[in-house]
Amino acid sequence: MTVLVVDFGAQYAQLIARRVREARVFSEIVQSTITADEVRAKNPSAIILSGGPKSVYEVPAPSLDPAIYELGVPILGICYGAQLMAQQLGGTVAHTGGGEYGRTELTRQGSSVLVAEWPEASSCWMSHGDAIAEAPAGFTVTASTPLAPIAIMEDPARNFYAVQFHPEVAHSERGQEIIENFLHQRAGIAPTWTNTSIIDDQVAKIRAQVGDQRVLCALSGGVDSAVAAAMVFKAVGQQLTCVFVDTGLMRKNEGEQIEATFTKQFGVELIHVQAADRFFDALAGVTDPERKRKIIGELFIREFERVAGELAEDGVKFLVQGTLYPDVIESGSGHAANIKSHHNVGGLPEDLSFELVEPLRTLFKDEVRKVGEELGLPGEIVWRQPFPGPGLGVRIIGEVTRERADILRNADYVVVDEIKKAGLYRELWQSFAVLPAVRTVGVMGDGRTYEYPIVIRAVTSDDAMTADWARLPYEVIEAIANRLIREVSGVNRVALDVTSKPPGTIEWE
Ligand code: XMP
Repeated sequence: MTVLVVDFGAQYAQLIARRVREARVFSEIVQSTITADEVRAKNPSAIILSGGPKSVYEVPAPSLDPAIYELGVPILGICYGAQLMAQQLGGTVAHTGGGEYGRTELTRQGSSVLVAEWPEASSCWMSHGDAIAEAPAGFTVTASTPLAPIAIMEDPARNFYAVQFHPEVAHSERGQEIIENFLHQRAGIAPTWTNTSIIDDQVAKIRAQVGDQRVLCALSGGVDSAVAAAMVFKAVGQQLTCVFVDTGLMRKNEGEQIEATFTKQFGVELIHVQAADRFFDALAGVTDPERKRKIIGELFIREFERVAGELAEDGVKFLVQGTLYPDVIESGSGHAANIKSHHNVGGLPEDLSFELVEPLRTLFKDEVRKVGEELGLPGEIVWRQPFPGPGLGVRIIGEVTRERADILRNADYVVVDEIKKAGLYRELWQSFAVLPAVRTVGVMGDGRTYEYPIVIRAVTSDDAMTADWARLPYEVIEAIANRLIREVSGVNRVALDVTSKPPGTIEWE
């Protein structure tokens, strides 16, 4: 039971796909160039056409293979998708001369199957310049707004529905109702896609792919590799070997946490590579940020390759990767969202001779977390904030030494601990400590000190592309600052980073 979400180029397709999944129906994003034959091959239970930034009159504006309307599959058009449906099925779309943006009053009329329970007056979330002027034959108009005479139109006989507004956005109060009504009632899709069904599906797929061969997984301390490993372990048990390369630049207790979970709790064979000395040796005297990144990245690959090579000789054939859905989908405009080109540091070499096992390929991050909980991973791993591949290395300005890494690791622990105590950890995209390459004068007890400052960095963000500095409560900042000075030797001053992204980046290097 799959729903195809056709992407017309805006950021809304992902949001729609997620709303469909929240309705417990599996969704897949496809490009607008998909043909009717390709749709038929995927055998979807419904199709949703997303919004998009273009006007249907622009040339070229993305269109849809008209034969798709002949497949007998229920279709819901949203915003641009609604207008395109209207135009392709024989109605008309016009410039409104103004457009509606944000909360807009919606008036119901006629008899509706899509919003049957709605009051006569409600509100919806709009973002449009054009509007449907004339509904195609077979459609009934069931709602309007001041500038969109056809805000909803329905053709229950063919199971075609079109809404000018955005039911998928959070501001759209009853939006999820529309999506669920369309999927469950109109298209008759049962809400059976649950965490358990995801796990069962993937476990079966992994078993089919791997058979009785051995599998390797590199654990990074992050959520994705941990959930992927737990899934593979559930599928093939002792055929799995995990590798954790300790670079000396991990968060406090990260290695212990992984040991406790994978070795003690699950009983997975775990190779813990203690490589910190080699990393500090390689980084000695290096201060240039790009050089540091490069050294860390290359050394990580070398360490991993050494272990992987030995295991491959032992007959390990498959490699687990925690690839997520956003890395897989291409946007409707045809270019893949390639946000992380400079972020491959800490990734694995591309030319390893393993076959990949990617059990999270269809999942969004929040789904991965829920699946992780269901698989029995501890909350501390599952809800961890993102952490860069080069680890603390990009937060230690200037030379990376064991001593400075220890200072930062302890400081980072304090920041995160207080943020957690304040109940803010999940709300923030990232919260951590940075160690600058300066010392400052202070006074402690009777003596003068000359030590490092720590910078508190806490940001809110949806995707790390942009970020805002978090307005932490003064009490939380105070608690962090007090503890940093008291508990972390080598630190005598605390500062707060109030730079958003852009112009700053989230990390300092
Ligand atoms: P910036 O600092 O560019 O970071 O605003 C955006 C997001 O990416 C993370 N980041 C990395 N992740 N390898 C990674 O896997 C890296 O080399 C890397 N550098 C930055 C950063 O923590 C933030 O979430």
